[in-house]
Amino acid sequence: MGKLWGGRFDENDLDPKVMDFSSSLQVDRELAEYDCASTIVHVEMLGARGILAKEEQDELVDVLKGLLARIQKGEWEPSGHEDIHSAIQEYIEKAAPVSSRKMHTGRSRNEQVVNDVRLYCRDNIDRVSGLIKAFQKQLVLLAERNPEAIIPGYTHLNRAQPVLFAHLLMSYVEMLSRDAERFDDAGKRCDVSVMGSGALAGSALELDREFSARRSGFSAVHSNSMDAVSDRDFMAEAVWCLAMTAVHLSRICEDLILYSIPEFGFIEIGSAYCTGSSLMPQKRNPDVLELVRGRSASVISDLNSLLVLQKALPHTYNRDLQEDKAPLFRSFATVKASLEMMAGLVGTVTYRETASMEALDNEFIYATDIAEYLVGKGVAFKDAHDIVGAMVKKCSEKGMNISDLSISDLKAFSEELDEGVYALLNARVSVRNKKTPGSTNPKMVSSRVAEWKKKLK
Ligand code: ARG
Repeated sequence: MGKLWGGRFDENDLDPKVMDFSSSLQVDRELAEYDCASTIVHVEMLGARGILAKEEQDELVDVLKGLLARIQKGEWEPSGHEDIHSAIQEYIEKAAPVSSRKMHTGRSRNEQVVNDVRLYCRDNIDRVSGLIKAFQKQLVLLAERNPEAIIPGYTHLNRAQPVLFAHLLMSYVEMLSRDAERFDDAGKRCDVSVMGSGALAGSALELDREFSARRSGFSAVHSNSMDAVSDRDFMAEAVWCLAMTAVHLSRICEDLILYSIPEFGFIEIGSAYCTGSSLMPQKRNPDVLELVRGRSASVISDLNSLLVLQKALPHTYNRDLQEDKAPLFRSFATVKASLEMMAGLVGTVTYRETASMEALDNEFIYATDIAEYLVGKGVAFKDAHDIVGAMVKKCSEKGMNISDLSISDLKAFSEELDEGVYALLNARVSVRNKKTPGSTNPKMVSSRVAEWKKKLK
């Protein structure tokens, strides 16, 4: 079993249990492709600097490219190594015994691992952004398919005011667009090369840090070698973004669960995304939504792990930092899978008009509209609020709806109330009457739908 640090030790010094305990290979094999790619760049840099002869460089690059291809085809299964870096090193040593002795020149695993993880984050942030976009597209399409659909909007989980179903869906699109912006921004902190930092102090060799950065597609070179090997905030930041997205998904899930269960019944989720009960034949369970909601817990924990891991850790590299990868990889995997599921699920959602309209039967939902009608007639809002409040109180005591009140009943509450009130007791009128930009007014909602459709093309 190849180690990267044999010289100072007697061959059999290490207790095999320690190797088991300390190996990260099961986790960091995820970095295999990035480690090969970044090692190729390192070898090319050493070649450009004349530290490796042309033939040595070519031989190493060939072997590394061969390994990379095997990794991509899933044909290479390393085992029994301390980490992925040692496993790759040993593979190269076997294939190119002489040149490989120079391959690690001017490089430490402390920077190598950070560089690999930066490449991993860059790639995975791109993937998450793509998945967010795909999910947004499905939400926009669902909104577009249901331009007229109305549901009760809720505050405090109490029916509050009628809103367009599309308005709710577009609120998710807006929310997710902030997530996408944050990933974009977090990506900038990942986009920095650390190669040339050495173990912590830099290198006495004439390495070309710009070359390494450029060749790996990084936009900048880390400006302090100690910070470069210690810095894990770019990871915590990415996972913070993942946690925020996971929390957003959990809220969307909660809405869709509520709105799809028989108690609400405003939407139906396609059978492909529901499961049945082993005991109760009538059940149609929203398991996918429950799992996405449930898994947000692990992403929040992963963020917590990454922060606690760094708390009070002395500069610079400490082996504790090996523990950063499991939470990082897990949270990316969880959010990617969740976003993919959500996009698929939303594509199967249908609006159910009858149940939605039934939920709007109680006309108290128009109380705010009546109060604003009174304001339009010059009544002070506070007075209007009192008037309509008294009206609702009376109706609920008598088990009446507002439309059951006669004109003279209305006049008893306020002289300003007239037959115009009856026209307000209608969900379509209610949404159409909204005037503020960003409101549930159907014209505003559909122009936002169109804008987003274009943006997401
Ligand atoms: N497996 C290690 C990690 O993930 C790689 C760096 C090890 N460096 C060291 N000096 N032991 O952090």
